[in-house]
Amino acid sequence: MKTQKTILATLLPLVLLQGCKQSSTDNIEAPKTYKEQAEALVAKMTPYEQVSILVGPGFAPGPEGFSVNYSALNNLKSDVPGTVGYINGVHNTESGLDIGAVKLADGAAGVRIEPTRAGDNNTYYGTAFPVSTLLASTWNPELVELVGKTIANEVKEYGLDFWLAPGLNIQRNPLNGRNFEYFSEDPFLSGVMASAEVKGAQSEGVGTTIKHFVANNAETSRNIVDNIISPRALREIYMRGFEYAVKNASPWAVMTAMNQVNGHFSGQWKDLNTIVLRDEWGFKGMVMSDWWSGDGNYPEMIKSGNDLIESGGKAWAYRPNEVGALDQLNAAYESGDLDSSTIKNSAVRVLTQSLKTPTNQGYEFSNSPDLHAHASISRAAASEGIILLKNTANTLPIDSSLSVASFGINQINTFKGGYGSGDVNAAYTINIADGLSKQFILDTDLKKRYEMFFFENKSETDFQGLSTIVECAEPPLTSNEIESYINSNDIAVISIGRTSIQGTDRTNTPGDYQLSTDERELINNVSAAAHKNDKKVVVVLNVAGIINMDSWQDKVDAVVLAYMPGQEAGNVIADVLSGKVNPSGKLTQTIPVSYTDLPSAANFPGTDTDSDGKVDTHYYNEGIYVGYRYFDTFNKPVSYPFGYGLSYTDFEYSSALMVQNTLNTKQSLGKVTFSVDVTNIGKVAGKNVAQVYIAAPAGRLKKPAIELKAFAKTKQLEPATRQKLTFNIPAKWLASFDATRNQWIIEPGVYKAYISQSSDVDGVDPVTFTVNNELVVSKTTAGALALPGSMIASDFETDFH
Ligand code: BGC
Repeated sequence: MKTQKTILATLLPLVLLQGCKQSSTDNIEAPKTYKEQAEALVAKMTPYEQVSILVGPGFAPGPEGFSVNYSALNNLKSDVPGTVGYINGVHNTESGLDIGAVKLADGAAGVRIEPTRAGDNNTYYGTAFPVSTLLASTWNPELVELVGKTIANEVKEYGLDFWLAPGLNIQRNPLNGRNFEYFSEDPFLSGVMASAEVKGAQSEGVGTTIKHFVANNAETSRNIVDNIISPRALREIYMRGFEYAVKNASPWAVMTAMNQVNGHFSGQWKDLNTIVLRDEWGFKGMVMSDWWSGDGNYPEMIKSGNDLIESGGKAWAYRPNEVGALDQLNAAYESGDLDSSTIKNSAVRVLTQSLKTPTNQGYEFSNSPDLHAHASISRAAASEGIILLKNTANTLPIDSSLSVASFGINQINTFKGGYGSGDVNAAYTINIADGLSKQFILDTDLKKRYEMFFFENKSETDFQGLSTIVECAEPPLTSNEIESYINSNDIAVISIGRTSIQGTDRTNTPGDYQLSTDERELINNVSAAAHKNDKKVVVVLNVAGIINMDSWQDKVDAVVLAYMPGQEAGNVIADVLSGKVNPSGKLTQTIPVSYTDLPSAANFPGTDTDSDGKVDTHYYNEGIYVGYRYFDTFNKPVSYPFGYGLSYTDFEYSSALMVQNTLNTKQSLGKVTFSVDVTNIGKVAGKNVAQVYIAAPAGRLKKPAIELKAFAKTKQLEPATRQKLTFNIPAKWLASFDATRNQWIIEPGVYKAYISQSSDVDGVDPVTFTVNNELVVSKTTAGALALPGSMIASDFETDFH
């Protein structure tokens, strides 16, 4: 189905020329930039038209829940069911303005729209890609860029304009219900992955929206909680990935977070949305609010530099009696509370992005993206992210001639992704049992038993119209039955699943972060029966986030962390178990021995300070010591370190070198360059990720023992072949934040660079480089991002030293 080509593309030049004095030089003038076009158009708008493009049309509550408030939606050229928000257009016959409304689609694991439409036999499925954590676990930015490009192609071909992704909040604590939508506990890795995805998506001419700015690290009380974070931790941990993405990939938009930071709603804080984002980092795009966020003071949002209020209208869900955003802004304009230049500036920023979109470029969408080709990209991306955590005595790969007894209800109830706005309406999900049965001789009787149990016992619940939550208990299997399945097969696979949902955090309880009693029994019984017969047990984790490993992993021979692999889940997992794909994924978060070992465990997800039954305040007591920065600095044991992941082959590093150090000559524009030779010393081809961790000399600022500053992945290396990898670390990304002087600095001394296969750098010989004098890499705004009142970091940050 083709839609009518919008006439805007032909109209726009005419619109711009109206009222302009023609001269003989007009024909040779450089084409106007989108910003210049936006300025010219905004100048032709009435103040009320300018305000109208700063507020989405919102949703109206109806008998069947929320539906788009079409009466407030201006100049929609074509609609796409499942669109989660719009940027209003403008249509004015008098001034000749005809700007189409822009359609926003959720992500991050694909494009989420309604797959079916009333009275239409066609389907509109999005491809479900691996969740962001699994994508990041590939440590392969080129692959992530391709995924971004492919998703954006679906956004474009289904007639949408903006993709509300990627999310890059820090995985501060594994219980955050939206961790699956985020990349890592490390800001640099998060920034690199977000940049790759943004670049890929925007190369299709579709806008991206990096989110949620900033510190949306838990879902409990997500629309009110106040996260108290020191300026240093904010800049070094929670904002740094955003800074990296803004500077390296120029996303068209940034979405503010729901939560408060240091006493201010993110979407209403000038320090974030103007002072740091625009003035310091040079962000040129538009800022939009998260849906219904803030306390309802919409003029304050605009004044803070948040240009677009989404979803607009009234925040029915939270503040049903409030005056809606459009009315508030108009009133503020009329009273002079919101001055016309502030309105104009935001209108220009919104329109600059709107004009670039497929809708306003007159793109003729096909409604038929190549879903078949995209499924292959999803499969390839997922298989490169899967992490082999344990593989005793080469249990894996499993030879295709072996017969497999597959246990665990998750082999049928397989999770392609997490629930909520990050869910994708995909045409299918290959479950683990079906995937395994294509590559192995699977015990069909056992498979049927699980299928039947699932069919008879599953429950399905709607989650806010966004997802269908499917749950099912483990079927009862006696130890005799288990033993007989083990006896009649060569190897056992147990699949354990965990999903999670936007708006709710996970808990450190059985069935969630811990194994349930049924799962524990299943692992115990299968392992006991298998080991009695000299057979092996493999556990596959199809999980939204990590779970405790320490209490059970000794009982099994191999563990594969598959996270949520997208719609090809079963095929992808079978590819890794069979050795068709040699795993090369690496952890992007630390797996602690016990949940309570995490420095954030004591305060997550915050405190109910006024005893009204809701968490309202969350102190980030651990400061900059998040993830491996804590475990490595304070020598705490972990189950698996950040950056870790096994392969079916082995790699050896040699000739690790510091190639060049221009920090002392070029100062803040300098960089340090390293190289290493990576050789495949095993028997099968594979890829390897080399990671560069920097240890700074003792100085004025306390610093983590090591920090990831660069990484590179080899191509597929055949046995006995070698590849030289090169790493550049620019001064900016080496620096630490000195909050007392408002500066990013590199302190003098001898630095060590560990080129390592994980953040466990024990036994790695570092290469060194020297910084002669302190370098001030950049200056920041005094007083920005301050803690509330007269609070200082040491009032609440734990001194672990
Ligand atoms: C989520 C955003 C999402 C938006 C639109 C909000 O609840 O936090 O990430 O993009 O809804 O669906």
